[in-house]
Amino acid sequence: MASDKPHMNLVVIGHVDHGKSTLVGRLMLDTDQFPAHVIEQFKKEATEKGKGSFFLAWVMDNLKEERERGVTIDVAHKKFDTDKYYFTIIDAPGHRDFVKNMITGASQADAAILTCSAIEGPQAQTKEHVFLSKTLGIDQLIVAVNKMDAVDYSEEKFNEAVEGVKKLTKLIGFKDDQVRFVPVSAFAGTNIKDKAPEMGWYSGPTLLEAVDMFDLPNKPTDKPLRLPVQDVYSITGIGTVPVGKIETGLLKPGMQVHFNPSNKIAECKSIEMHHEMLDKAEPGDNVGFNCRGLGKNDIRRGDVGAPTDAPATVAKTFTAQVIVLNHPSVITVGYTPVFHAYTAQTACQFEEIQKVIRGGKEVENTFMKTGDQGVVKIRPTRPMVVEKAADFPPLGRFAIRDMGQTVAVGVAVDVEAR
Ligand code: GTP
Ligand code: MG
Repeated sequence: MASDKPHMNLVVIGHVDHGKSTLVGRLMLDTDQFPAHVIEQFKKEATEKGKGSFFLAWVMDNLKEERERGVTIDVAHKKFDTDKYYFTIIDAPGHRDFVKNMITGASQADAAILTCSAIEGPQAQTKEHVFLSKTLGIDQLIVAVNKMDAVDYSEEKFNEAVEGVKKLTKLIGFKDDQVRFVPVSAFAGTNIKDKAPEMGWYSGPTLLEAVDMFDLPNKPTDKPLRLPVQDVYSITGIGTVPVGKIETGLLKPGMQVHFNPSNKIAECKSIEMHHEMLDKAEPGDNVGFNCRGLGKNDIRRGDVGAPTDAPATVAKTFTAQVIVLNHPSVITVGYTPVFHAYTAQTACQFEEIQKVIRGGKEVENTFMKTGDQGVVKIRPTRPMVVEKAADFPPLGRFAIRDMGQTVAVGVAVDVEAR
């Protein structure tokens, strides 16, 4: 059994270099996910090469290698557990594709840890990531004010970062009790598992105590299955294995699964999570499942698995409520940016601008600009699953990106099926 403890998905977000990967490495270490001899080996090798301080990064690099060598189902996901929960942790990767991948990660998460450097305080991506997380349905956040070792564990520096981040979370609509602030050093391992004597001024929880304070998300098991496919693997001797997080409903071996928009049906033969077989998977579970009668290229990232009697809706058009966050000029009919929803990324065209609200008032306008809210009709340029956000929230929320920026966010209020 994967674990008898309840399962939660956590995404680690934050500005470049604020310590996301180091924090994930540290959480893995402090919850004993690596055998002691492996850690000793890393410390030894890193020290011999004069890079003792890199040993945490080495731990992560080793995982990366491991991932590339074997075809495992939990590619970008790692796990750890506490007394209370069993966590899948998603380290949003850096570099160019960062925001795109961060959106996928956040769309799969029940809660987020935001790393914010105590040296720099909140930066551009701190704001963008928090905004996107909220849009994608995350309403529980821990702000790990990181690199406290580099500011002499100063209470003043911590408070500065807290004030800066609080301004953002308030603006974005988080309530005070949905956000918790914890000073840490991911690098030194301070206040992660054990209370830190260096920060006698801090009386709150350690990071591992704080993650146990997350509320368990409710599990919509009564709805039909919706399982957005994140990746599809072909494993020798086993067959085709789609991987993804179940959003609603249940998946059981023997079930016929209908994948849309590819319109393929296959039998689920077996299900696994973190290398352990499951006889049933439920909302929140990040699974790989072996499918009879499915070729590797029959389906792809962005397909959504569902029961044959309630397949996911392939949208001809959909009506959306959108908020324009950041557009260099104006959005008019014909604009075709990329919509990021669950694991799908599809160019979609603005077909009608039905309503524009500016400064709280409806205006007669045929364009939208930064700060506007509106109701628009959207047409995907390729087949794409979209559900009404009211029915299946994770499949009806999206970020709209263009020119390397998030220009708008929105929800689908109505869907015209193909
Ligand atoms: P991207 O994935 O590129 O966005 O970066 P990241 O947020 O994953 O940051 P990463 O963990 O790679 O750390 C970036 C740098 O900050 C590295 O040099 C780390 O060693 C350093 N760093 C991370 N955490 C701490 C910390 O707690 N204290 C100090 N002093 N340095 C840290
Ligand atoms: Mg990183």
